[in-house]
Amino acid sequence: MSEETRRDFIRDAALATAAVLVSPASRILGANDRVRVGMIGVGGRGQDLLRQAMAVPNVEVIAIADVYTRRWDEAKRIAPGIQAVDDHRKLLDRKDIDGVIVASPLHIHARHFMDALDSGKDLYSEKTMTWSIPEADECLAAAKKSDRVVQIGLQHESSGQLADARRWIKGGLAGKVTSVESWMSRNTPHGKGQWVRAVPADCTAANVNWNAFLNGRPDRQFDPFRLINWRLYWEFSGGNVTENMVHQIAWIMSALDLPLPSAAYMTGGVFSEKDGREVPDTIAVSFDFPGDVVVNWQSTFSNSRYGLGERILGSDGTIEHVAGATDMVSGESEETLRYYPEKVNRPDGTAQTGTSPDQNHMANWIDCIRSRKAPNAPVEKGYTSAVACHMANLSYRQKQRITLEEAKGAQPQL
Ligand SMILES: NC(=O)c1ccc[n+]([C@@H]2O[C@H](COP(=O)([O-])OP(=O)(O)OC[C@H]3O[C@@H](n4cnc5c(N)ncnc54)[C@H](O)[C@@H]3O)[C@@H](O)[C@H]2O)c1
Repeated sequence: MSEETRRDFIRDAALATAAVLVSPASRILGANDRVRVGMIGVGGRGQDLLRQAMAVPNVEVIAIADVYTRRWDEAKRIAPGIQAVDDHRKLLDRKDIDGVIVASPLHIHARHFMDALDSGKDLYSEKTMTWSIPEADECLAAAKKSDRVVQIGLQHESSGQLADARRWIKGGLAGKVTSVESWMSRNTPHGKGQWVRAVPADCTAANVNWNAFLNGRPDRQFDPFRLINWRLYWEFSGGNVTENMVHQIAWIMSALDLPLPSAAYMTGGVFSEKDGREVPDTIAVSFDFPGDVVVNWQSTFSNSRYGLGERILGSDGTIEHVAGATDMVSGESEETLRYYPEKVNRPDGTAQTGTSPDQNHMANWIDCIRSRKAPNAPVEKGYTSAVACHMANLSYRQKQRITLEEAKGAQPQL
């Protein structure tokens, strides 16, 4: 070990010890203790997660923080008696909260992530883990130095289909995989843009802590449309790549045990939703991975026939995971995982269907709060999937292929 490496090692070890010594402001929980949870950001997804957390036995959600008072009333209808505040720091100050669920807009995830860990709480943070690569580096380092349980809201990491796909691949059923194709497609009635939400009449400056929403973005007058439709703008969002591709790229990387991509190239544009949005609605991404694997993902907001899916193409077999593809005859859609042998290399192979049950992603986090084990979508999974997303978006915005090194050195663009 060189002197410099040794010094780094000693410094990191000292920091890690210091972090472990300061972080557990919270209780040590026994297997049967009630887990007390707080939530930051209780809009569309947050309200789903509130219901999910309340459905886990022996869990109590006792407080929420949201910048918009309407969300307080909505949360109180779901969980009467819950405390509501407009500043997440007031919630994190409460010593009786063990874990925090974050479902705020993307550009505030890193702030909420860091503040939650600093306050000694365990954390469930919605995907995508962060808005940029530097933020992802910062959150990964903080989580590794702390002893807190971090689960990222990549719920497909808890799916039985991923467990089956991994087992098939490890068992050699797919053979050598060099190519994966994946897609995600949606549609809306003419004149109604994908993701566009109506602004409620009570969404006024008096009812919103606008500065907390901006979270350091350039100051401007209260803009209710951007508060509600933050997904459409780069300074708050990463578009469909961070909204949806993140689930699929995480799933593919987990199935094949892939490291970070070595390069990404993304094309497309705002072609179907010409409503003033900045993030593209039509996208094609190509990733190079170390180990001779190419992963393609394409998406559209103006055709929904093929739903979403992934096809892992191997020399000895194909693993196909499809969800939401519409059946031509019945008009119904279903989610399936199937294996098809390549007869040229596995003449006796037979087709198979995935059978493993899903785990409950929220219950997995709560279990880990008690057991202190690593959850199904730990911070490393949040990190690699976030970096892949940001590489794609950086390539799109620079209009050129980007390597991992170039992406790590690039300035995030508002
Ligand atoms: N895992 C999934 O399947 C899934 C599904 C949908 C959304 N999501 C993710 O959940 C997150 C939220 O999405 P959404 O659709 O619920 O958005 P939303 O706009 O409906 O909700 C965000 C909430 O955060 C509040 N907020 C804004 N700034 C805040 C701040 N500084 N402090 C506290 N609260 C603040 C807003 O008032 C709003 O109530 C996003 O990251 C999104 O990608 C995940």
